[in-house]
Amino acid sequence: MSIEFKNVDYVYASGTPFQTQGLIDISFKIEKGSFVAIAGHTGSGKSTLMQHFDGLLLPSKGEITVAGEQINANTSSKSLKAIRKKVGLVFQFPENQLFEETVLKDVMFGPLNFGFSEQKAKEQAVEWIKKVGLSEDMMDKSPFELSGGQMRRVAIAGVMAYEPEILCLDEPAAGLDPEGQKQMFEIFKDYQRAGHTVILISHNMDDISEYADDMLVLEHGHLIKHACPQEIFSDQEWVKKHYLDEPATSRLTRELQKGGFQFSEMPLTIESLVSKVANELKKKGAN
Ligand SMILES: Nc1ncnc2c1ncn2[C@@H]1O[C@H](COP(=O)(O)OP(=O)(O)OP(=O)(O)O)[C@@H](O)[C@H]1O
Ligand SMILES: [Mg+2]
Repeated sequence: MSIEFKNVDYVYASGTPFQTQGLIDISFKIEKGSFVAIAGHTGSGKSTLMQHFDGLLLPSKGEITVAGEQINANTSSKSLKAIRKKVGLVFQFPENQLFEETVLKDVMFGPLNFGFSEQKAKEQAVEWIKKVGLSEDMMDKSPFELSGGQMRRVAIAGVMAYEPEILCLDEPAAGLDPEGQKQMFEIFKDYQRAGHTVILISHNMDDISEYADDMLVLEHGHLIKHACPQEIFSDQEWVKKHYLDEPATSRLTRELQKGGFQFSEMPLTIESLVSKVANELKKKGAN
């Protein structure tokens, strides 16, 4: 298993008048190699939760196991280096954290920091710069000469270049154009297919239903649901009650059901919806 939380609380500004409970009694397990989505309204605790995966925030209470490493309130910063090599975290608007003179140097920073040789770090950086859809001639440019979308890609390449076992992404597609978003999600899905764990915060239920195979839903610091998107989006009443959006595929499926189509289970990806509709049409044609 990849990540386990046991009764984790996190309190911001503890003991001050600004004290805020960010996470409340969170327990769950995530399997290695899964693609996990974290959903919930603004302020529900998604980013707070994600910053616990690499020990950027330490739990105020409770125990966390990440890729075999333990984290609790007393974990020393020395033992966090091993965790950070295994867990790559891409923040919301990561382009704000670019700092090197050139794109290549920026992307090499992570691999060098985690002990790759200069040559290996360069190879990794060049490979990931290309994989995230940037051209080779951008490598010697300053990251600050690039467009917002290109800067986002540089920041993502900078984490993927040291190939962390667990890749955590906080709203990675926000602000990218639809084509760029799709490209990014395909890259993350391929990363999962290559055997890594991918954890994604998203407000977009279409992206979650298309790519994730496990889902955590937060509300006011509580984990209110942990199930596969299939199960969550099949319960329309629950989704409505918690003011979550529905993916377009599940809305379309319900309309098709009203029109007489039958589905043994709700198709959530566009591909599975199309194939189920095609089967139904064949059956109808045969009658
Ligand atoms: N640095 C901080 N200091 C004090 N309180 C904070 C801090 N960061 C977050 N909080 C509080 O913790 C709670 C959870 O915030 P968090 O940023 O984790 O939410 P989120 O689900 O990521 O929201 P969003 O969708 O807007 O990104 C909120 O009540 C927020 O106000
Ligand atoms: Mg957030």
